[in-house]
Amino acid sequence: MFNKLTAMPADPILGLLTKYREDNHTQKVDLGVGVYKDESGHTPILTCVKKAEKYRLDTESTKVYIGPTGSADFNRLMSELAFGAENRAILANRVRTVSTPGGTGALRVAADFIKRCNPNSVLWVSDPTWANHTGLFEAAGITVKTYPYYDYDTKSLKFAEMKAALSEIGSDDVVLLHACCHNPSGMDLNQQQWDEVIELTAEQGFTPLIDMAYQGFGEGVDEDAYGVRKMAATVNNMILCSSCSKNFGLYRERIGACSIIGKDAAASDVAFSVLLYVVRCIYSMPPAHGAAIVETILGSNELKQEWLDELTVMRDRINGNRAMLVNKLKEIGVTSNFDFITEQKGMFSFLGITPEQVAQLQSEYSVYMVDSSRISIAGIGTGNVDYLAKSIAKVL
Ligand SMILES: Cc1ncc(COP(=O)(O)O)c(C=O)c1O
Repeated sequence: MFNKLTAMPADPILGLLTKYREDNHTQKVDLGVGVYKDESGHTPILTCVKKAEKYRLDTESTKVYIGPTGSADFNRLMSELAFGAENRAILANRVRTVSTPGGTGALRVAADFIKRCNPNSVLWVSDPTWANHTGLFEAAGITVKTYPYYDYDTKSLKFAEMKAALSEIGSDDVVLLHACCHNPSGMDLNQQQWDEVIELTAEQGFTPLIDMAYQGFGEGVDEDAYGVRKMAATVNNMILCSSCSKNFGLYRERIGACSIIGKDAAASDVAFSVLLYVVRCIYSMPPAHGAAIVETILGSNELKQEWLDELTVMRDRINGNRAMLVNKLKEIGVTSNFDFITEQKGMFSFLGITPEQVAQLQSEYSVYMVDSSRISIAGIGTGNVDYLAKSIAKVL
């Protein structure tokens, strides 16, 4: 049976990582993998996470099944973090949340849920979007199409084209928006643009699916949720997929959440029963450990403050790296304008160089990034920025 299979192409980012690891160059730079790294290139466990894990180890009393919703406390605290405790949708008891295996699990649950809402729904994603979005939704049998988003020439948003495309989308379809720190472009909607998109969403009646994988990595926990909160307070139906991988540094624990909002509490109950059925058919129940860590942190004023402080350190480092690279390029006399990098947000930006220049950076200077020239900003540091900027200057 297996001999009928043809091999799938390897994940380009993992392939890049293997090459990077095998490279003996003493000044090699990894700008491929999308995880936070500190100045020494390490992805640390947050101190608040260590404390929450210790508390869990001391107090956990059973490993019995947790049920398809996961932990009720985690779900409530995550909804409040995302939507704001005073959000109209929360106060009207319209939000229903399940814990999921990471943000990817949340998206897969959302995909199967959409398929059950309307098997003919088209999912519209930004051009470009996170590489996994298309495969994930297509795997659930959903047709995926794109709306214009990032302008590679001007390094800015194609906002007029995006709005024009959204105003053609009808109420049967779903539009995926990135809450903040757009992956891969780093180009976010500003508040006025969110207002316009939310107005369009309400007018057109399509369902917004917001993917929030980086809450707190852009401008702040509340600032990054502006669009999510206003959308939830405005429209009848909405889906939110969140991840705790980056902002809690819980990557391998696989914890995230999927929330749905119906037009009233009764409609939300019906939709939730379908969501739970979807969960049971995929993985039955989510893992508990990551959720327990997050709920311990968010449920304690002291640990929550510690988390917010540690998150600020990560965010400031990323924003600082953006400025550091741009300033260094200027300092060594690069005349091309890279200021857009400081205006973008989150883990990624496109450097805006050709695939040939990307290949040259790799083969001649051991600087690793994906072909699209998307760079993972956390891979920059005071120890490599000089070498990195000079290498970029040489291939320009
Ligand atoms: C836009 C976006 N959505 C979702 C995810 C999935 O996150 P997780 O690792 O929690 O599955 C990522 C991870 O990189 C992402 O960039």
